[in-house]
Amino acid sequence: MPEDKIKELIEAAIQARSMSYAPYSHYMVGAALLAGDGQIFKGCNIENAAYTPTNCAERTAFFKAVSEGITDFTAIAVVGSPEGDEITQLAYPCGVCRQVMMEFCDPKTFHVIVARSVAEYRCMTLEELLPCGFGSDNVKGNEATLRLQSTQSKSS
Ligand code: THU
Repeated sequence: MPEDKIKELIEAAIQARSMSYAPYSHYMVGAALLAGDGQIFKGCNIENAAYTPTNCAERTAFFKAVSEGITDFTAIAVVGSPEGDEITQLAYPCGVCRQVMMEFCDPKTFHVIVARSVAEYRCMTLEELLPCGFGSDNVKGNEATLRLQSTQSKSS
């Protein structure tokens, strides 16, 4: 990943974090997802009084992109820390978000950047974060998948 792209993504994730809706945990997270075509999708965590419907920042960014027809991704930057402007830690994506990344990204080439600032970050591949992940290749060719593919090809 080029250094200037990493910095641009971290800046976008810091901006996204300012939109965090976290009245229960008071833990604010921002994410910036870089698509293959160069677009950047920002997301923040969005909590809920019933707790379970809470959506992480990473998934907000992915779902925004996928719902706009974008499914090819290069990298994501994540910035998370307790409420306040100062980012005091590196926040690694939770297991559910790693699995969502696995659905759309090549684990060998997709980069995950966790950052405290544009100067302090760690960049790794999805495979490093989620070794031996389960993905769409595992279910390729099974009956349910073939049925789904045939329904999709008839409707298009
Ligand atoms: N959170 C994220 O947004 N991303 C993660 O990968 C881990 C956790 C959010 C969920 C919740 O709103 C808050 O951080 C505390 O768990």
